[in-house]
Order: sequence, then structure tokens, then C-alpha cells
Amino acid sequence: MNEYKEKSFRDTCRDLNAGSTVLLRVDFNLSRDSTGCWLLNDRLYRVIPVIKQLLAMQFGVILVSHLGRPRPGVWESSLSLSTLCEPLERLLGKSVTFLSDWPKQKTYLAAGSVALAENTRFLVGETDNNMRLAQHMVDGVDCVMMEAFACSHRRHASTFGVLYAAKTWCLGPEHEKEIQGMDRFLQTSSPRVAFIGGKKISTKLPLLTKLLETVDVICFGGGIASTLLHVKGYQTGTSWVEYSCREQVAEFFHLADRCSVKLVLPSDVQVSADNTDFRDPRVVAIDEILPHENIVDIGQASISSFVDHAESASSIYWNGPMGIYEYPSGIRGSADLARAISNAHAYSLVGGGDTLSVLDKLGIHAFSHVSTGGGAFLHYLANGTTYVLDARTRLKETV
Ligand code: 3PG
Repeated sequence: MNEYKEKSFRDTCRDLNAGSTVLLRVDFNLSRDSTGCWLLNDRLYRVIPVIKQLLAMQFGVILVSHLGRPRPGVWESSLSLSTLCEPLERLLGKSVTFLSDWPKQKTYLAAGSVALAENTRFLVGETDNNMRLAQHMVDGVDCVMMEAFACSHRRHASTFGVLYAAKTWCLGPEHEKEIQGMDRFLQTSSPRVAFIGGKKISTKLPLLTKLLETVDVICFGGGIASTLLHVKGYQTGTSWVEYSCREQVAEFFHLADRCSVKLVLPSDVQVSADNTDFRDPRVVAIDEILPHENIVDIGQASISSFVDHAESASSIYWNGPMGIYEYPSGIRGSADLARAISNAHAYSLVGGGDTLSVLDKLGIHAFSHVSTGGGAFLHYLANGTTYVLDARTRLKETV
């Protein structure tokens, strides 16, 4: 066990010698467009100044990230991080060595040089938090800097195990800011209003359930709303619905009732009979969706109701797009909501990978705090902690 002393990023940097090797755990879990081009967002942009700072202090920096959810031990070209070297080189203004076989491949990193390791999820043992793998990852590393708030809710070897294996570790500065942003939200008074969108409810259900203890109102859009409407007995046509979650969703409705949390589902939606490009949309009440139609976005009446909730909230948080924002017919709900939240007087916390992408597309960024975390964001709001912060507490107890 390492000897953990709680230190800030600044103090940690000050105590490291030039030439030290730093493992910077980042979250480059980014999407690509149909031509394979990286869709860069704040997950990457925000760590560029941090990397530059570490390089200026003459540390050797190994950037470590996961991408997608490959099967451990099976390399897939579409999930390789190798092509990310080019945009990183452009933004850093220096060459980035790619470590295709890290951590097996040990390289000597000269002071002030930077390398990018291959997707950690190709490694057997990563998602099981195998401590031998974690130990291997920190061999030759002087300090681990955990900058990836967005995966701080994962107990994996590169996010969690390395903290126990490292000689010394600290949170990165962007990670510290994320925690401050969340804490400010948790300190606000009622009414706290949440807007939850995005596609899948299955991965968010446990956290949404815990969230019932934190907020007063939850407004739903996106694919999640389709599943909720289906469980309420509405015809949802060809929309994305997670049929396997029916029972858990019904239980969630009961729980919300018991916790006196108001759940607001769309009262109208934009639908399209075109299941490919979602052209020629029409707005219908939720009991008028035809069997061949797909829900593309929330409708005008729903938008107005969501905007009213945003305007009367003392704090707001938003996670997940309200519609299929990649298509013109699916962006209006997210756009109007983004404008309403950014103009509201409330403390506003928005976050999640897709939410960042939709905000980039809209060019709206005026919120109190924009989080790079999706699941981590919900995890922290629901539990007031993450596995990374837990590791910090437990390590402190052992010193
Ligand atoms: C995210 O995109 O929310 C994080 O990178 C975590 O990814 P995961 O849900 O695949 O663990």
C-alpha cells in the first residue's frame, strides 16, 4: 500500500522533480462522425492546458484513457486511440508517441515529452480492477494524476486500482473543479429540477432512483421518455424503447410517488415516419403516435412546460439530449431548453458526453458548471462521492 497524503494538484507538482514520469488518467471516450473524424469536445480540450503545464514543468506524461466498451483481450481498430495522436499533436504543438502495447511496452519518456497509451479496455483485467495490471501500469511512474472525472464512478484498474498501486497520486485540476461544481449544486435549496434525456434508461435507472432523494422535479425527454411513455401504456410506434426495463421503470414510478418527486413526461412529441433521416416531422399529442412513427423530439407544449420548470427552479441540472439531436428535426427541444437554462437565475449544472456534443452544436455554454461526466455526474449527485474519492478517504485512513 502506498503512503497516501492528501495533496492538491499544485502541491503534488511542486514536490515532483523535473524528469518525473506522470500517468495522467484522462477521459478520451469520444465519438467519431460517419467519416471516422474525431468529434472533439471539452473532455479533451479542457485537459490540453493541464498537459501543457505538466510538460512545461519537464515531466514525462503518459496519457491513459479508455474508449468504448470492447471485449477485453480483443483489439478492434475502430476503438483504437492511435488516430487521436494527430489532433493531440496539433493542440499541444509537439509530437505524441503512441504506445500500442502499454503497459507491457515500457518506454523511456524524456523530460517534457508526452505519450498516449492504447485503449485500456483492450487489456484483460482493466474492467475487473485487476491489481496486478494496476501495479504494472504504475511501474516506472512517479505519480498518478486522476483527471478523468467522467469515469471516476468506474472501479477499474486504470481509474481505481492505480490509485492504490501508485507511489503518489492526486486529482487533476479539472477533476477538482468538477467536484466543486457538483458540491455547489448539492448546497442549493429547493426547488431542484432535473432534466433527463439521452437514449438509455437501463444504465441510468439505479442512479435515477437515488436521485429521487436529491431533486423535487424530474422532466424527461429523449429515448428515456419513450420507454417511460411505453410503461405508462402509450403507443410509441417505432421509437427506441427498452422493453427489458418495464418492471424496474414501474417500480421507479412508485418510488417517485413515495418520495413526492414530480415526474414530468412529454405531453406532446415530434414524430417522423422516416426511420432513417427523420424527415417531415409532425407534432402530435402523446396519445396520437401512429404505429409506424418514431419519436424524434419533445413537442412545443412539452418544451413550454419544461421551460416553465427551468424558470421557477432554484437549481437545475440537465443530463442528456431531449431528442435525436444529430438530425435537424430532433434538436429543437434541446436548443430551447439550453437557452432557457442558460437564461434562468438558478444555479445550473449540465453534463454528460452527449449533452456536451449538443451544446457544442448549439454554441450555448453559459451555465454555472458544465460537467464532462455522464454516469459519473449522476453517480456523484446521487451518492455525494465517487469511487475515486472513496479511494482517497480509505487511503487516508490507512496512513
Ligand atoms: C462516459 O462516457 O460516461 C465515461 O467515459 C464512462 O464510460 P463507460 O460508461 O463506458 O464506463
